[in-house]
Amino acid sequence: MARLCFTLVILALALLVSQSNQSLTCTSQRFTNKNVYTNCTDLSYLNAYLHWTYNTTNSTLSIAFTAPPSKPEGWVSWSINPVKPSMISAQALLAFKHEDNITISTYNVTSYADATKWGTKLSYEVWDLSAEESNGNITIFGKWKLPEKTKMVNQIWQVGPGITDKGLPLPHDKNLDNLNARGILQLLGTQSGASPTPSPSPAGLVPGAPAPAGKKKSASTRIGGRISVGFYMGLVVILGSLIVLEI
Ligand SMILES: *[C@@H]1O[C@H](CO)[C@@H](O)[C@H](O)[C@H]1NC(C)=O
Ligand SMILES: *[C@@H]1O[C@H](CO)[C@@H](O)[C@H](O)[C@H]1NC(C)=O
Ligand SMILES: *[C@@H]1O[C@H](CO)[C@@H](O)[C@H](O)[C@H]1NC(C)=O
Ligand SMILES: *[C@@H]1O[C@H](CO)[C@@H](O)[C@H](O)[C@H]1NC(C)=O
Ligand SMILES: *[C@@H]1O[C@H](CO)[C@@H](O)[C@H](O)[C@H]1NC(C)=O
Ligand SMILES: *[C@@H]1O[C@H](CO)[C@@H](O)[C@H](O)[C@H]1NC(C)=O
Ligand SMILES: *[C@@H]1O[C@H](CO)[C@@H](O)[C@H](O)[C@H]1NC(C)=O
Repeated sequence: MARLCFTLVILALALLVSQSNQSLTCTSQRFTNKNVYTNCTDLSYLNAYLHWTYNTTNSTLSIAFTAPPSKPEGWVSWSINPVKPSMISAQALLAFKHEDNITISTYNVTSYADATKWGTKLSYEVWDLSAEESNGNITIFGKWKLPEKTKMVNQIWQVGPGITDKGLPLPHDKNLDNLNARGILQLLGTQSGASPTPSPSPAGLVPGAPAPAGKKKSASTRIGGRISVGFYMGLVVILGSLIVLEI
């Protein structure tokens, strides 16, 4: 009986270890030779997450944004929109991998039409830009100079399927996940009821798109994990039944 118990405990622990990566995407991420970020936010759509540090002294936001492109040779992007949480006016960093080369560029999004040029100037100063690919995920690194006393920003993130012959990003899918991939990134303090968006703007990516829902759902910072709660409950049950068996 003792041996059986031992085996089951080992099994349970093995299960715990293998499960923990799925429920702790933020905390399980490690960057070699990169900054350590103080904060991490699991973004609720497109399997994306954002590590970030906000230095209030010089209002600099350092980010590491990770997501899997929708196709292997696709692109990922993370942007701040100074106007509202929508695609138009987004000040974007966009990265993709092509034949082992990873490219990162800036992109001032001005229309829903296909992108026509790369490397457009942003309304924010950005620097230390780089990107890397690992395990099918692309991570964008960068620093942003924000206006003094910024407490929150509108963030929009996106993934796309590929790059045109001219090296421009192909349009992303119009699935709900794509359309919802935006919200508020609270840099300081807690989020109040007030949104920085003055009106419920119809600024969806397509007409009739659901209202910006990212605000409510986008941020779970320093997650302990919904999945892991259920999992630990399961573990308690397993251990509980072991005790019963032992008796
Ligand atoms: C979990 O993540 C750690 C490092 O973050 C890694 O070494 C380990 O292989 C991962 N385990 C699984 C099952 O993916
Ligand atoms: C970011 O991390 C710092 C340091 O751990 C913490 O004090 C702060 O509350 C975090 N900010 C948010 C918005 O979670
Ligand atoms: C924030 O930036 C200032 C100015 O560069 C620097 O002196 C300070 O050490 C930074 N704070 C952190 C926590 O890195
Ligand atoms: C602010 O300070 C941070 C940390 O010291 C540094 O990485 C960043 O480059 C600084 N920003 C500016 C605009 O100098
Ligand atoms: C990849 O980048 C290297 C160095 O910048 C360049 O020489 C090479 O032509 C690039 N390859 C492709 C397929 O773009
Ligand atoms: C981005 O594009 C818009 C529309 O063309 C333009 O008004 C704005 O000045 C551009 N931003 C920058 C920083 O060039
Ligand atoms: C991306 O990273 C996540 C979290 O580390 C991992 O679960 C996933 O398998 C990776 N690859 C893809 C294609 O999503």
